[in-house]
Amino acid sequence: MSSGIATQVTRSTRLTESVREQSPFGEVFSDHMLSAGYQDGHWSAPELLRFGPVMISPAASALHYGQSIFEGFKAHRTVDGGVALFRPGDNLARLNRTAARLAMPAVPAPLFLDGIAELVRLDRDWAPTREGGALYIRPLYFATDEALMVRPSRSYRFIVMSCPVGPYFSEPVRLVAEEEFVRAFPGGTGDVKPAGNYAGALLAAQRAQSSGFHNVLWLDGLQHRLVEESGLMNIVFIIAGAAVTPALTGTILPGVTRDSVLTLLRGMNIRVEERAIAIDEIVAAHEEGTLTEAFGVGTAATVAPIAQIRYRDRDLSFSTDPQHTVGARVRSSLEAIRTGRAEDRHGWLVRV
Ligand SMILES: Cc1ncc(COP(=O)(O)O)c(C=O)c1O
Repeated sequence: MSSGIATQVTRSTRLTESVREQSPFGEVFSDHMLSAGYQDGHWSAPELLRFGPVMISPAASALHYGQSIFEGFKAHRTVDGGVALFRPGDNLARLNRTAARLAMPAVPAPLFLDGIAELVRLDRDWAPTREGGALYIRPLYFATDEALMVRPSRSYRFIVMSCPVGPYFSEPVRLVAEEEFVRAFPGGTGDVKPAGNYAGALLAAQRAQSSGFHNVLWLDGLQHRLVEESGLMNIVFIIAGAAVTPALTGTILPGVTRDSVLTLLRGMNIRVEERAIAIDEIVAAHEEGTLTEAFGVGTAATVAPIAQIRYRDRDLSFSTDPQHTVGARVRSSLEAIRTGRAEDRHGWLVRV
């Protein structure tokens, strides 16, 4: 089946088994990319091109003023021999919420959904076969006006690339609560996904890593008191048997994995509480022994057990034993759905 997208099929693939199964996260790209341009109110016909450099002007406004957005989700091999995208419509919705926030035009649903399905169909052999592997899909959308006036661009480029990936973390995650820098603040862009959010977070992550942590535990931008996210993931705590996660109040990225995991937890008869969680409550619940577990949830890592959180002079440690954690149970339930081993009761898979 073809959607009629003009395709420049490469004759020489770079795919080998070791490239597919062992590439470091996000460093090797599949043979093709989807590309479409926007100019003065109109989208050009999308094309599937050989993956490679694109020409942009050094005056392109994305480079100067940051009208640039990315998304990320995965395609998995399914047990019936197919490949399925996981909830691509949710990433399209988030991309377009980000676009609206950055005064950029919406990306049309058929361009995103049909274009990505066609790209994955073309490069399906790049999807890893190993347990926990996936083809990571990276949509990118940026402003291309060659103009230094600070105003919304009139021209844009939408590109989608993909790469074979394995598990993001090779060990349970260690976080340090960040009290100097903030990721987001009310009225800012913390609940959407512009590139600039990530630039502003790099220094904090770099400092955390130089002290032996994987990333920071972000606290709220006003008082540095409420827990928000764990580095590049949403966060869930198990407190007195309930799954407790920060409510989406406008400074937290609404993760697609977060939504999937909360849905599955409810289906496992685990009470889910979406509410404000102060870092002091985490410390107290850990001391009382009611806080038994913490995990990060996000596309790259899926469900990542958290082994340690440092807050000031306190080190809180958590069980990451895969036999006994809620996180491990929900992770395997999610994996089973993504790979077609369990029934897709929520309609999350889009087979290509
Ligand atoms: C800051 C941040 N929070 C949370 C997430 C998790 O979102 P998702 O589950 O949609 O990947 C991500 C990853 O996209 C992220 O970058």
